[in-house]
Amino acid sequence: MVKWFFSLLSVLSTLCLAGQLPSPALIPIPAEASYPPGSYLIGKELTVSIPEGIKNRSFLLEQLSTKFTRSAGITIQETREEVAVLRLRLVPAATLASREAYSLEISNNGIVISAAEEAGFFYALQTLWQLLPAEIEAPTAQPGKEWAVPFASIRDYPRFGWRGLMLDVARHFFTKEQVKDFIDHMAAYKYNRLHLHLTDDQGWRIEIKQLPRLTAIGAYRGERTGKWGEFGKQDPKEPKNYGGYYTQDDIRELLAYAADRQVAIVPEIDVPGHSMALLAAYPDLSCTPGTTYQVNGGDRFMHWPGGGKFYSTIDNNLCPANERVYALLDTIFTEIAALFPIEYIHMGGDETYKGFWEKSDALKGLMKRENLKDMHEVQSYFVKRVARIIASKGKKMMGWDEIMEGGLAPGAAVMSWQGDKGGIAASKLKHPVVMSPNSHTYVDLYQGDPLSEPPTYGMVRLKKTYAFDPVPAGADPTYILGGQANLWSERLYTTRHLEYMLWPRGWAVAEAVWSPVKRKDWNDFVRRTEAHFKRNDLAGINYSTSLYDPMVNVQYVQDTVVQVSLQTETDQLSLHYSFDEFPPDRFYPVYTAPIRFPPGASTLQVQSFRNGQPIGKRMILPLAELKKRIRK
Ligand code: ACM
Repeated sequence: MVKWFFSLLSVLSTLCLAGQLPSPALIPIPAEASYPPGSYLIGKELTVSIPEGIKNRSFLLEQLSTKFTRSAGITIQETREEVAVLRLRLVPAATLASREAYSLEISNNGIVISAAEEAGFFYALQTLWQLLPAEIEAPTAQPGKEWAVPFASIRDYPRFGWRGLMLDVARHFFTKEQVKDFIDHMAAYKYNRLHLHLTDDQGWRIEIKQLPRLTAIGAYRGERTGKWGEFGKQDPKEPKNYGGYYTQDDIRELLAYAADRQVAIVPEIDVPGHSMALLAAYPDLSCTPGTTYQVNGGDRFMHWPGGGKFYSTIDNNLCPANERVYALLDTIFTEIAALFPIEYIHMGGDETYKGFWEKSDALKGLMKRENLKDMHEVQSYFVKRVARIIASKGKKMMGWDEIMEGGLAPGAAVMSWQGDKGGIAASKLKHPVVMSPNSHTYVDLYQGDPLSEPPTYGMVRLKKTYAFDPVPAGADPTYILGGQANLWSERLYTTRHLEYMLWPRGWAVAEAVWSPVKRKDWNDFVRRTEAHFKRNDLAGINYSTSLYDPMVNVQYVQDTVVQVSLQTETDQLSLHYSFDEFPPDRFYPVYTAPIRFPPGASTLQVQSFRNGQPIGKRMILPLAELKKRIRK
């Protein structure tokens, strides 16, 4: 009773404080914000003032015109500060928390944005779009819409300088225009690093002028669709009709597009493993002479039997004992360094299967010569040589956490993907770290029950992603550059699927890397996420509603009876279910406690409802499939 009274009190006080209105659905949530009652109504014309001293002035103006005119039918008119409704103001950097900080004040007097640099102004605009009605995301203006922005006083700045998203363009190729859309979508949530995974076994995606074979051969393979990893091998003679790559001009265009949106592009050339596309072009650079290489087309050659172990049926590694490997990498990194302005070059370094190295006489010779006692030290020898090549181009090296095996190269930055332990250890060794643990930020993994999702592996539900903290217990925060979500594309054939995997988990990571921890709140994030679903609907951007789908656990009771327990990630859902093959509606039983398959039943169907309306997917759970999950 007492508990009930206090929860009622807390609901009432929340409503009173907020003046009955929930606060605007901003993602990531700003560092500090208050919302006095009221709103400013923008008319048919919006007058703006932007000081000449703002470096990205013309870009900001163009963004304002494009968005307001296209989606709201509002024309932008430049004018003097004293009379403008939207006023941008340059303030001294020292008054702000960082170069990316901004403040946004909306009152009866209009809209005032203050920042010291381009990034701050750009981020203020992203916040402004989110304060406007969702229809600002629509491709065309809707007649009769009122364009009100709530009164607000916002002071905002990021928690981390590295707010990354990785896109794998190697397994499936995404065109320059698709990458630009991706940049638009990420920048809207204040991400500022686009890590492009440019090379892998399935494709080499960047022009290297001195090495045209890399793209002429490495960028193409036989086309496949369906269940990745289950395809048969390619016939060496079949047409290599799937692929593509970015020319250096394409890359320059993407870099400029990204820079306007405050995004720096991080290039990854993944070596010594994951190198089959390179080896298709230069077959004698592995330690296994005579191997016939093709760019992989989705047949399985890497195997993960469990316990973190893996093996490969083909040697897809560069050979650390071959000097021509380093000469080739020197050429590649010379061109990469000249092209990309960012201080880091990512050299991959992950998942190198050592079985073929162990059999190689050339490698044994190298071990003797260099006094390397095991395969970890061989890998470390290779990584350190790559680090020296990259340093010789005036850049710093970053790699996946395997680069720690056998000893870290001096100054190398670590991207921690196998959980956070690598990142914690590297930070204690005073190496820069980007946290991207597969436990939380791998947005290519399942986000709902595998029986109702497109096929992938692993599981990272939205709530888990939202719990991501780039500074885990035990890490030295001084060395944590930030965090990153990774989107691998083995199974992503289209941007529709890509978007489905990315949103809303990408919003959860955006908040983890931008917002102060004390501002995070799961229930409030769900509320804001739902508002962004509507924005995505209007913008034509896909997303997943898997957060409404229950988590399904199965066990045997009384030896043979299958019992299912269901758990939801969010409140206020009721789960209706059926065993009789009919899609459950709201008149079907509500789940309250674990349920048992009755005699004869072969399928459980579950549908989430909120306020009497179906929400999320209907889940169809065959008994035979559920039984496979039960650990004996
Ligand atoms: C990785 O996921 N292999 C970095």
